[in-house]
Amino acid sequence: VEIITDVAALQARTLGWRAGGLRVGFVPTMGFLHRGHTSLMSLARPRCDKVVVSIFVNPLQFGPAEDLDRYPRDPEGDAAKCEAAGVDLLFVPDTAGGGFYPGDFSTTVAVSGLTSGLCGGKRPGHFEGVTTVVARLFGMVQPSLAVFGEKDYQQLAVIRRMVRDLAMPIEVVGGPLVRDDDGLALSSRNAYLSDEQRARGLSLHRALVAIAASPEREVAALKARGQAMIEADRLDYLEIVDAETLAPLAEVDRPARALAAGFFGATRLIDNVAIAPK
Ligand code: PAF
Repeated sequence: VEIITDVAALQARTLGWRAGGLRVGFVPTMGFLHRGHTSLMSLARPRCDKVVVSIFVNPLQFGPAEDLDRYPRDPEGDAAKCEAAGVDLLFVPDTAGGGFYPGDFSTTVAVSGLTSGLCGGKRPGHFEGVTTVVARLFGMVQPSLAVFGEKDYQQLAVIRRMVRDLAMPIEVVGGPLVRDDDGLALSSRNAYLSDEQRARGLSLHRALVAIAASPEREVAALKARGQAMIEADRLDYLEIVDAETLAPLAEVDRPARALAAGFFGATRLIDNVAIAPK
């Protein structure tokens, strides 16, 4: 895999590919890659001529008390995983000097409505940070297609809306959530968990599966059942929403999604499952 750290060199390469009629696929990441990320690369690979992966731990999407400073990193391991996944270009922006954002960077991309609840409600400014960096990365990479994981279900919906609203000529593909053998949703942040926290973290998935399997239609009853099962130190939210609009539901009468976020020690885990109409 070719590794590029300079924006001008990246754009020269990707614009050259586009001019040659090649379809460029893009998987943006924050690194410390796992099977969830490589599954997104595998979705891009057969759909595109060239696959670009970026690794950038984006400060704009972290709150002041969050884990920006200790976010796990593994540059060599990440490059090896990209190589094995058949990635053509790995973009690791050089953050020295001017950094990724110029000193007078003054643009924010914000999607309203979809970002007000769930993680957006609990992490103020998070999605503005995500949409701003993703819009900037799209400008840098100029992809025809971009892949995002359903693990961050709200993020995927927000990116789809941004791409639609700003008429970006990019096909957004969602990749299914990938789990460890024990059922824990793969996340770079799982590396923070002690064995005991990890064991309790599995309760998120168990609760969501129980909700999806229940014949109950009333959301209040389903949430009460799920909440009783989750062994978090602090439950951020457990919600059942319309799968498309993310609007809260009173009854499961259409395709829905159950989503949960909670703290296990200092580590915040998120998970979600699809719920078919009952
Ligand atoms: O999902 C992530 O890893 C990040 O939010 C993303 C999309 C790479 C933007 O920094």
